[in-house]
Amino acid sequence: MNEKQRIESQKVVAGNPTDKKSAKDFSKYFESVYIPPSLKDAKKRGKEEVNYHNDFHISEEFQGLGNNKKFYIRTYGCQMNEHDTEVMAGIFLGLGYEPTDTVNDADVILLNTCAIRENAENKVFGELGHLKTLKKHRPNLLIGVCGCMSQEESVVNKILKTYNQVDMIFGTHNIHRLPNILKEAYMSKEMVVEVWSKEGDVIENLPKVRKGEIKAWVNIMYGCDKFCTYCIVPYTRGKERSRRPEDIIQEVRHLAAQDYQEITLLGQNVNAYGKDFEDMTYGLGDLMDEIRKIDIPRIRFTTSHPRDFDDRLIEVLGKGGNLLDHIHLPVQSGSSEVLKMMARKYDRERYLELVGKIKAAMPNASLTTDIIVGFPNETEEQFEETLSLYREVEFDTAYTFIYSPREGTPAAKMVDNVPLEVKKERLQRLNALVNEISAKKLKEYEGQVVEVLVEGESKKNPDVLAGYTEKSKLVNFRGPKSVIGKLIKVKVTKAKTWTLDGELVEEALEV
Ligand code: SAH
Ligand code: SF4
Ligand code: F3S
Repeated sequence: MNEKQRIESQKVVAGNPTDKKSAKDFSKYFESVYIPPSLKDAKKRGKEEVNYHNDFHISEEFQGLGNNKKFYIRTYGCQMNEHDTEVMAGIFLGLGYEPTDTVNDADVILLNTCAIRENAENKVFGELGHLKTLKKHRPNLLIGVCGCMSQEESVVNKILKTYNQVDMIFGTHNIHRLPNILKEAYMSKEMVVEVWSKEGDVIENLPKVRKGEIKAWVNIMYGCDKFCTYCIVPYTRGKERSRRPEDIIQEVRHLAAQDYQEITLLGQNVNAYGKDFEDMTYGLGDLMDEIRKIDIPRIRFTTSHPRDFDDRLIEVLGKGGNLLDHIHLPVQSGSSEVLKMMARKYDRERYLELVGKIKAAMPNASLTTDIIVGFPNETEEQFEETLSLYREVEFDTAYTFIYSPREGTPAAKMVDNVPLEVKKERLQRLNALVNEISAKKLKEYEGQVVEVLVEGESKKNPDVLAGYTEKSKLVNFRGPKSVIGKLIKVKVTKAKTWTLDGELVEEALEV
């Protein structure tokens, strides 16, 4: 099937299910043409080459589509979604739309969704409920669902059946098709569904409107091939594919020229960077070694997978400079048996060994992590191994979750014999430990001078400024507005539960 045929076969312009006259015909028609997103197809990882495209443009037929119209995008989930929103905002602007920060005067509302846990999905269904009322009063409003949930067949089917206020559903591989999808939605006033199940493409020249002028995200790779047994991401984001180093470096240089102070390199598993290149000799360490020479004061990367974290990367990170020594290294569990069931492909010992190597190369490194409690069959002893690993590593902080079964993943088929009450209780115990160690670590900052990238006024008090340290600690302090966007030195006066209070030492660092 060529590209055009595939687009045609995957694209469905569904009749309006509310149109009673044609409901039966519609249903027949729909079944005959509708190809739902398939988790099974999404799992296939072909050996086909990654196609790089540089030819995105907004063709004449779409010019002015958004004149005198406003768009609003609500983003759920991780930084990858946040960054996709920046791309979609870029496309909207290219079409002539203006942004708005309220749904009330928007002409198009997009929900950029996350499928990682059930409660993430429930939030979106709740929001769709609210939007139904809005749509009743303003029938011309277009409502779209995109992001990871739209890659799930069960979600698409549910929306088609019960949420007829939705006009468009499109997947994570279809973002560049937004102009076509919008036009179709306007023309037909019928539900447009366009979701490709797997894609191996990288589209380089999509427009972007970044949310801030101080910090920026840069994708270095897309997708995930790890297939941890609990996780939906490999199905919703497609196969691992790396951007070419030259494209990434050019983007980072461009951001440096625009005076950005901090870059976060993004991918679901950034340590697998380059593994899909033919010669497989260029990895994340090599990329970081080039990027560190670019004149940007702070470089971060996320998310790391312990399995692919290699010595070359550790060596490069050890060079310091603008490469920050804060590493987010999700462990998920402290028990080797649970890690095996999760198919994480490392065990407790290897994780601790890696932590040891990182700390040897970067003595001041701070580590943060993600942990899942209540995985099917997790025993009390296995959970306690998570607690003991946490104490041993002394993470700065952690994102902690109760396991949530995701349809189509291997773990969802496992018998789960851990009662919800037990899962909740484990989460509480783990959070108590996380809080205890975070508080202890924050307390150590009292009296120290830290470097802060000032982001703006504090949310609670406009007379107070707020910014982040190299290790992502939020610091509040009083100072002139002229330091916003700059790196300055602040003396920490008090550690609060989650944040630090400080006073300005020096207005701006020589960089
Ligand atoms: N790629 C990253 C994580 C992406 S998802 C990594 O591999 O570490 C962010 C976090 O959500 C995961 O680290 C995991 O802790 C959590 N998570 C993923 N699937 C989950 C599920 N089914 N239930 C509960 N938490 C989950
Ligand atoms: Fe999910 Fe595992 Fe991939 Fe992370 S590495 S996105 S947890 S499958
Ligand atoms: Fe959620 Fe998709 Fe990110 S499932 S965590 S938005 S990759």
